[in-house]
Amino acid sequence: MNIVLFGPPGAGKGTQSALLSKHYNLHHVSTGDLLRNAMKANTSLGIEAKKFVDKGALVPDSVVTGLIKEELQKGIGVGMLLDGFPRNPSQAQALDELLNAEGKNVDQAIFLEVDKSELLNRLTGRRVCSSCGATYHVKLKPTKTEGRCDLCGEKVVQRPDDQESVISNRLEVYDQSTSPLKEYFSKQGKFVAVKGSGDPKDVFRAICSAVDSR
Ligand code: AP5
Repeated sequence: MNIVLFGPPGAGKGTQSALLSKHYNLHHVSTGDLLRNAMKANTSLGIEAKKFVDKGALVPDSVVTGLIKEELQKGIGVGMLLDGFPRNPSQAQALDELLNAEGKNVDQAIFLEVDKSELLNRLTGRRVCSSCGATYHVKLKPTKTEGRCDLCGEKVVQRPDDQESVISNRLEVYDQSTSPLKEYFSKQGKFVAVKGSGDPKDVFRAICSAVDSR
């Protein structure tokens, strides 16, 4: 089973992907995480990507496709949960081609629906662990010890692209480039919208019910 989870920045894709990949035993592919790892490691690809990520722009398809190929191959046998990829119709087409060549396809594209005011609140308050990447929120999901990760004890920080000036650009980029995926997957009969606000456990249950009734 191959599932695409998409939605605006802050919709909860990362939060839900962690739960879903475990529940359905799927290989989790997050282009955001892959790009952040490449940036942290200062690889040539990471240096190139940083120019775009820090501004809230999409990294060019050629860079992303190169980065993701290996990860997709890992997921082809077991099934995968795609988080942050595809991000526009041309990436969706590339994904379809890659899967079709292996006799597979996207089974469902789940869209997480959240109001813009809530997205802003979530993103400005989000903090992430600088070591293990665990996600927190200053008000909604604070760490037990201030500034330190509950899981590994390392420092939690704000993502550079979670500054207010960058967030507005990310939301605009989402409207222009990623939102057309709703139509792309609707035409294929694979689009499902799920309410992404409320308790994360309830959101998880709603997604599972969509997946299980497919
Ligand atoms: P990426 O890392 O994919 O960022 P994003 O899509 O902007 O999504 P986020 O990670 O910000 O949010 P999320 O939906 O995962 O929400 P989360 O679960 O963390 O991409 C970053 C950048 O990389 C892009 O801007 C682009 O430059 C580049 N990039 C990535 N993929 C690319 C591609 N394919 N092509 C080109 N460029 C690409 O939750 C957010 C917060 O809300 C957290 O604090 C969380 O605790 C909280 N929260 C979650 N769920 C709930 C809930 N139900 N109720 C209350 N709070 C909640």
